Amino acid sequence: MVRGKKVEIVSLLILVIVMAATAATVTYDHRALVIDGKRKILISGSIHYPRSTPEMWPDLIQKSKDGGLDVIETYVFWNGHEPEKNKYNFEGRYDLVKFVKLAAKAGLYVHLRIGPYACAEWNYGGFPVWLHFVPGIKFRTDNEPFKAEMQRFTAKIVDLMKQEKLYASQGGPIILSQIENEYGNIDSAYGAAGKSYMKWSASMALSLDTGVPWNMCQQGDAPDPIINTCNGFYCDQFTPNSNNKPKMWTENWSGWFLGFGEPTPYRPVEDLAFAVARFFQRGGTFQNYYMYHGGTNFERTSGGPLISTSYDYDAPIDEYGLLRQPKWGHLRDLHKAIKLCEDALIATDPEITSLGSNLEAAVYKTSSGSCAAFLANIGTQSDATVTFNGKSYRLPAWSVSILPDCKNVAFNTAKINSATESTAFARQSLKPDGGSSAELGSQWSHIKEPIGISEADALVKPGLLEQINTTADKSDYLWYSLRMDIKGDETFLDEGSKAVLHIQSIGQVVYAFINGKLAGSGNDRTNISLDIPINLVTGKNTIDLLSVTVGLANYGAFFDIIGAGITGPVSLNSAKTGSSMDLSSHQWTYQVGLKGEDTGLGSGDSSEWVSNSPLPTNQPLVWYKTTFDAPSGSEPVAIDFTGTGKGIAWVNGQSIGRYWPTSIARTDGCVGSCNYRGTYRNDKCLKNCGKPSQTLYHVPRSWIKPSGNTLVLLEEMGGDPTKISFATKHTGSNLCLKVSESHPAPVDTWTSDSKFSNRTSPAVLSLKCPVSTQVISSIRFASFGTPTGSCGSFSHGRCNSARSLSVVQKACVGSRSCKVEVSTRVFGEPCHGVVKSLAVEAVCA
Ligand code: GAL
Repeated sequence: MVRGKKVEIVSLLILVIVMAATAATVTYDHRALVIDGKRKILISGSIHYPRSTPEMWPDLIQKSKDGGLDVIETYVFWNGHEPEKNKYNFEGRYDLVKFVKLAAKAGLYVHLRIGPYACAEWNYGGFPVWLHFVPGIKFRTDNEPFKAEMQRFTAKIVDLMKQEKLYASQGGPIILSQIENEYGNIDSAYGAAGKSYMKWSASMALSLDTGVPWNMCQQGDAPDPIINTCNGFYCDQFTPNSNNKPKMWTENWSGWFLGFGEPTPYRPVEDLAFAVARFFQRGGTFQNYYMYHGGTNFERTSGGPLISTSYDYDAPIDEYGLLRQPKWGHLRDLHKAIKLCEDALIATDPEITSLGSNLEAAVYKTSSGSCAAFLANIGTQSDATVTFNGKSYRLPAWSVSILPDCKNVAFNTAKINSATESTAFARQSLKPDGGSSAELGSQWSHIKEPIGISEADALVKPGLLEQINTTADKSDYLWYSLRMDIKGDETFLDEGSKAVLHIQSIGQVVYAFINGKLAGSGNDRTNISLDIPINLVTGKNTIDLLSVTVGLANYGAFFDIIGAGITGPVSLNSAKTGSSMDLSSHQWTYQVGLKGEDTGLGSGDSSEWVSNSPLPTNQPLVWYKTTFDAPSGSEPVAIDFTGTGKGIAWVNGQSIGRYWPTSIARTDGCVGSCNYRGTYRNDKCLKNCGKPSQTLYHVPRSWIKPSGNTLVLLEEMGGDPTKISFATKHTGSNLCLKVSESHPAPVDTWTSDSKFSNRTSPAVLSLKCPVSTQVISSIRFASFGTPTGSCGSFSHGRCNSARSLSVVQKACVGSRSCKVEVSTRVFGEPCHGVVKSLAVEAVCA
């Protein structure tokens, strides 16, 4: 007994000692975050846990670590965690504790942006909509009801993290927390109350005593000791508001988000890498990619208005969890190069000198002899040759070279050593007998959603109601219905009881049904103005207007009270005489949500599904259901909704989000190929103009069983569900890369001991099949000389070594990976006096 107790006490003591030993102190100074007394260079990336599944998290986190991240950054999503007041959800995709622990398990730190305002293209910026109904509340200002709720939730999260010992001060991974989000961008709209709210937020956060620093982003006047941090496409010019605070970048936008009706934005990696390198050149020590993996806006989580279901963001890890190459690889190389400079970077401030117009050197030199340098050409037009420490360096336009020893170039932001890997969707048939998805059509059943008011608890009110106040966002849908007696001699009628129905809505979609038939529809972010010619009948008529929100606003001053829906006027007009009748103040009947939502049709289980009649297609408001077997393999799965109109879809009762393949991107603004040189803006590099903004929708593998899965759609505008197909996303059968003699040698060849030796390593082209079971099976193209074109369309230039193909074949075919030196030593001299490149396209199988 006594002995047992002793053992217990001893093990308890050991536990306490182990825990105390792993607890870290996190502070900061002028240069950096300081962890256990040591300044740190930290590379961070955003992954928002509810935008993927717990089953995906370990792989996403591992890929982040392999990409050279030290920190995972995430917001905390209040509306996901507290969908109803005091009813908390920390399960499944909202298992924040699990997510943070997985990051810790991989050896990564966490930056927890509690907010609790997030923005993030997330519904209502992350605020639960019930908050809007708290009496007397005003969001994000000096308002007692708001502050009480904000404090309660923030404390709830901090307490949860403390209970689980997740702060670094307790041995956990969280080294930093954020309060509020970019409030400084909009606080002037709130006047003096905004300032006092901001100060209150700061002291409220500090009072929670996390043991690690807090930051506020885009808040130039963040009070001490809160660190003000920068968000943007570039932050090299940013300086914190005190000389005691480090220069930190909380959102480096790796691409941009997609909106329905918008083309797809992308950000070239040469520019992204340039921005990062410039930041570290100019004294930065913490940098976060927003997003490193964007993911998916499942259910009704997307913000708005009109944020798409995909939140891919052109991030280094794509929506489906696959590496986006060469983006991921080039950034990994960049991170390695920066880390090679860490000792010098943390020791001192840079010494910045001009090397000519648009040419800049930054040198970090320590007393102990470490030296790292960054050489930048910030000109957008021409490459330049600079002399630095007596040596000559060629700097491509809009690029930074990193010299971890102040002599040799380990990395240049414009010279990519990582191969482009193709990814592609493959259409899948879903029946074990290999039948096409078209055959699936025979398996569809349906239920028609009633047009107009179908529920007993409908609300009758004079006048037009604002939508969010009416629905509390319980649903996207709100019916506005009117019954009218038409006598036949009304002045607003033209012959044959024709009239024009005018509808004014602040968004985002309206369908107008006259006597049960769809008469017209429209959509817009904030302003819908419709004039629909209609036919009325003498006697009773119904006007049923279905107003639909597509994500509640998430950004801007007072975004919470912008509202949505048919705010009027609604009127009937004679096209001929112009005489009109305003219906706005009539007695309208309202129904929140659809009947099928109330009865839970999304789950698929209902006895009302009709399967033995011809499937109605291209009709508004039909629920459809089918079953399917899992697409074979383990690759990520998508549904291609081409053929349908707009709606919401569920797989095995899990909402995969809103689909809207008929939302077409505007036709202007796209560029064939985007010049990475010059300042990036979110509308600089766009693709997919004039095409559907999003046809493919992610269905996480873990939501699919091997067989007997249910797919349910609520099709609101009319479409043909039998046209739907499944696809899986595959990576890497094609590898493609062009490396010139002037490229730095792969950064992997740098080790800390080789760092100070004078290096003259040649450029190397290296390839590796992404899938471990694959080998390079053939070489489609190889040319050492002056090949032209880009991936997929290389062709020989005037200069080409005759040995190109055979050398590359010999080195690569049959192996998973290969390295080929890019030099005349290997390929012979095809043309004197010219810088030559090696372009290769290889196939993995
Ligand atoms: C920032 C905001 C983020 C996100 C981003 C755009 O202003 O802080 O939450 O909305 O813009 O993706």
